[in-house]
Amino acid sequence: MRKKVDFLVIGSGIAGLSYALKVAEHGTVCLVTKTRAKETATRYAQGGIATVMYTPDTYEKHIHDTMVAGDYLSNEKIVRITITESTERVKELIAWGAEFDKEKSGKYDLAKEGGHSEKRILHYKDQTGEEIEQTLLERVTSHPNIEILENHFAIDIITQHHLGKEVTRRTKEIQCYGAYVLNLQNNTILTILARTTLLSTGGAGNVYGITTNPEIATGDGVAMVYRAKGRVRDMEFFQFHPTALYHPAERPAFLITEALRGFGGLLKNRQGVEFMYKYDKRGSLAPRDVVARAIDNEMKISGDDCVYLDCRHLDKIQLVNHFPNIYAKCLSIGININNEMIPVNPAAHYMCGGISVDEWGRSSIRNLYASGECAATGLHGANRLASNSLLESLVFSHRASIDAAKQLATTALCEEIPDWNDEGTVLNEEMILITQSMKELQAVMTSYVGIVRSNLRLNRALKRLEIIYHETEDLYQKSVITQQICELRNLINIGYLIIKAALERKESIGLHYSIDYPRTRANEFEVADHPL
Ligand code: FAD
Ligand code: SIN
Repeated sequence: MRKKVDFLVIGSGIAGLSYALKVAEHGTVCLVTKTRAKETATRYAQGGIATVMYTPDTYEKHIHDTMVAGDYLSNEKIVRITITESTERVKELIAWGAEFDKEKSGKYDLAKEGGHSEKRILHYKDQTGEEIEQTLLERVTSHPNIEILENHFAIDIITQHHLGKEVTRRTKEIQCYGAYVLNLQNNTILTILARTTLLSTGGAGNVYGITTNPEIATGDGVAMVYRAKGRVRDMEFFQFHPTALYHPAERPAFLITEALRGFGGLLKNRQGVEFMYKYDKRGSLAPRDVVARAIDNEMKISGDDCVYLDCRHLDKIQLVNHFPNIYAKCLSIGININNEMIPVNPAAHYMCGGISVDEWGRSSIRNLYASGECAATGLHGANRLASNSLLESLVFSHRASIDAAKQLATTALCEEIPDWNDEGTVLNEEMILITQSMKELQAVMTSYVGIVRSNLRLNRALKRLEIIYHETEDLYQKSVITQQICELRNLINIGYLIIKAALERKESIGLHYSIDYPRTRANEFEVADHPL
């Protein structure tokens, strides 16, 4: 089966949907998504979307906070573009119908999160993502130029490699002609030929044992680009959210938003003693990398599996009004947050690295754009500032849509692309091989490539990953394609890229903390005697 479109979009989160809406004004759009369209990380976003709305906040303050959180590794030009264009993009989202909480005065009720020097997080209770996803999806679904293919899994992007030409990492002009996509309802592989393609496939939290990310977050876009010999960067910087609900029976881990700490929640140990000031003068609201490492250290000292978030001193009615979802979730497992501390521990949350793109969302592969969590624009540097990612998706999907629309007139479809060849493959009847390898991969990454790293642990991880890699490649070559084997293969690739980048970085900076390299860059706000 073949399909021809002007714009192919892979992914139905904020990045894919907001881009699709814009390019649909210039041509036909096919948007593929591997499960139901609404099942995205976007939908689970709690805290909100950071943007400068009122004085005394300024773009300069937001830029500064972003640079500090990123340990000054962010690209300042990209930070400026993102922050100064964000208010306009957020207003556009509001014009599309997204609602955010307001004060009685009619002004937006702005929240504060770790690392922000001002209140600037627009939110819809603690369900901001659901509100955004629903608003965008309604618009996209009713747009006459957009076709949505749910339950369609993108396997690989198509390049000249599929025309039998040699493509290496040194090839100058790699071109993207669309993607091979597995229809999960009838197990056939569709060849989608597109003039331009956007990858908006989200994150890869499932490479770790504990994650806040939904099942769809398996790093597919990044792995596709790496396989196609495109550029990927900053993969060593994987953000762990400090406060996921400690409830081991559940995957993904339920997030306890940082906004709850912004609202006054305090991190304490089992004895009810606050510990964050030992580590940073910003206490429970220090940036995530600092808080996650502090919690990791406290858990190592105490031997406990979690620490606690204490909200018992807060106004009970306001607490429930602001965080109804968290209140209900905790109550469902027997914790009344008005009277009891919430058990929390860190969980893999956000992939700062990804497909390397420029200020127009252009990847190193011609006619291939990337936006959202799968892309690395240079905004986050060594650590993402809380609630800066929904914003980044809006800004760069907008920019990519402008560039892609411009390219349309001069880009032709490549009709010679052959269909997918699966000759000689057989049905893999041993799913256990895949599920077991996935568990091994997650265990290796959690044990050796987590919050605190060392060269010894990273090299151990690499050796173990090589075994899983070879076993999986062998199985992949012989098996009829399934989503499960592709996702395992993609996550192994993500694990490899994280370890490789971590071994190459010979310093501790931002989210990459190695005991082999004492910190070399002083973060100007950190206390001098920071013990980590
Ligand atoms: P996603 O929303 O994850 O969408 C990815 C899409 O790609 C999905 O539709 C998926 O099905 C599709 N896809 C993936 N692979 C394939 C494939 N091979 N074939 C077809 N389709 C594919 N950020 C903030 O700024 N503020 C917050 O408050 C916030 N809270 C968060 C809370 C949680 C629990 C989580 C997990 C993240 C949070 N984040 C937050 C981060 C933010 O939600 C994400 O970075 C952002 O939503 C990513 O959007 P996206 O469009 O890039 O990807
Ligand atoms: C949160 O609500 O704490 C998550 C915000 C984010 O990941 O940006």
